[in-house]
Amino acid sequence: MLLVSVCQHSPGFGDTQGYNMAIQLRSTAAVASDGVKVCVYGAAGTGKTTLIATLPNPIILSAEGGLLSLHGADIPYIVVDTMDRLREAYTWLRESKEAAQYESVALDSISEVAEVVLAAEMKKSKDGRAAYGEMNTTMADMIRAFRDLPGKHVYMSAKLEKSQDETGRMLYNPSMPGKTLTQQLPYFFDELLALRVERDADGKTQRALMCDSDGLWQAKDRSGWLDPWMPPDLGAIINRISTPQTKE
Ligand SMILES: Nc1ncnc2c1ncn2[C@@H]1O[C@H](COP(=O)(O)OP(=O)(O)OP(=O)(O)O)[C@@H](O)[C@H]1O
Ligand SMILES: [Mg+2]
Repeated sequence: MLLVSVCQHSPGFGDTQGYNMAIQLRSTAAVASDGVKVCVYGAAGTGKTTLIATLPNPIILSAEGGLLSLHGADIPYIVVDTMDRLREAYTWLRESKEAAQYESVALDSISEVAEVVLAAEMKKSKDGRAAYGEMNTTMADMIRAFRDLPGKHVYMSAKLEKSQDETGRMLYNPSMPGKTLTQQLPYFFDELLALRVERDADGKTQRALMCDSDGLWQAKDRSGWLDPWMPPDLGAIINRISTPQTKE
């Protein structure tokens, strides 16, 4: 008897009688039209900041002083050296008429933003673990919020972290402070690409975006439309994902 009355007030997952459903059916075909969300990581000097110039009509949120490589371009930027500034920039991007003109948002780099957040938390708390916990929550919220900016392509750059597995192989992944956030990061993005610089047989520098993991370098392409290696051109990558029928 008691069980029945409990069920009436808080129905189980299988109790469907008497409910008016307001399910909103959407189509996965329209997912890419809300903007492509991509994270690129790479070693210092590989060209993560330079990649911003290949985005359609971008605005930069810069957490590091590395914009010199874009001095030849004319791209607007906002300095986001504190979490408050980042929040202001987010609200402005979502709500202002002025920001509507930008098709792409570049956050350069999230590794740097996370370091700023962690330093602020470390000042507040004597307990290092609590500071890392706060930083994880703040960063996860922040990354999701920017990633889900409606109608905008979003590019976040990240520094490179190298580690060695138990067999001595070198592994490469985006760098974030703390193990938890480092492990979570790839799940936030549809596209996680590694920016690689190698020298070819003639000694010339070659840059490419690695879009598929080789077991050593972390990379993934949820769209399935990218080649394993793509030229360092985010505009081309966005086109490929947004209009997949153009795949050769
Ligand atoms: N696609 C490219 N073709 C030619 N030169 C490039 C390219 N990308 C980057 N470079 C050059 O490489 C240098 C470093 O580029 P950039 O500052 O973009 O690297 P970064 O990955 O952002 O470095 P950091 O990690 O220090 O911020 C610059 O001199 C830039 O002009
Ligand atoms: Mg840079």
